Amino acid sequence: MASSNPILKPIYVLNGPNLNLLGTREPEIYGSRTLADIERMCADRAKEQGVVFRQTNREGELVDWLQEAGREGCGVVLNAAAYTHTSVALHDAIKAISIPVVECHLSNPHRREPFRHRSYVSSAALGVVAGFGAQSYALAIDAILNALKSEEMQ
Ligand code: DQA
Repeated sequence: MASSNPILKPIYVLNGPNLNLLGTREPEIYGSRTLADIERMCADRAKEQGVVFRQTNREGELVDWLQEAGREGCGVVLNAAAYTHTSVALHDAIKAISIPVVECHLSNPHRREPFRHRSYVSSAALGVVAGFGAQSYALAIDAILNALKSEEMQ
């Protein structure tokens, strides 16, 4: 059963399209770590809460998981991948939940093609971590933990 103490609910780490191919997908951009490596790193970083770590190639599934995280989780690290740059549905889903959501990217989209410069996620998220490879996920988890701690202190 989910804990009523928000900090003991899990952190959801949600990954969008093509991130299942990490390790072999454009390693010069995304590095050589696989999604399984990143999952282990996240689990290690958030030992106390635990992590629900998922990947999908479907936009609606990300919407469903954001809604689930709003009920069952304490925060979300979201790498929506290409949907970052296209999805009003994801923007609305983030706005509809009241837990902190941190946008996360392996690469820095602002150093890349112009079509990656717009994010529909950023304006709904608490903040953005991008450009640090797999380490972006660890930094995003730390940002969630800090946000929860400062909420607790209010
Ligand atoms: C990405 C950046 C997006 O622009 C791209 O579509 C991805 C991965 C990243 O983690 O760097 O698939 O979100």
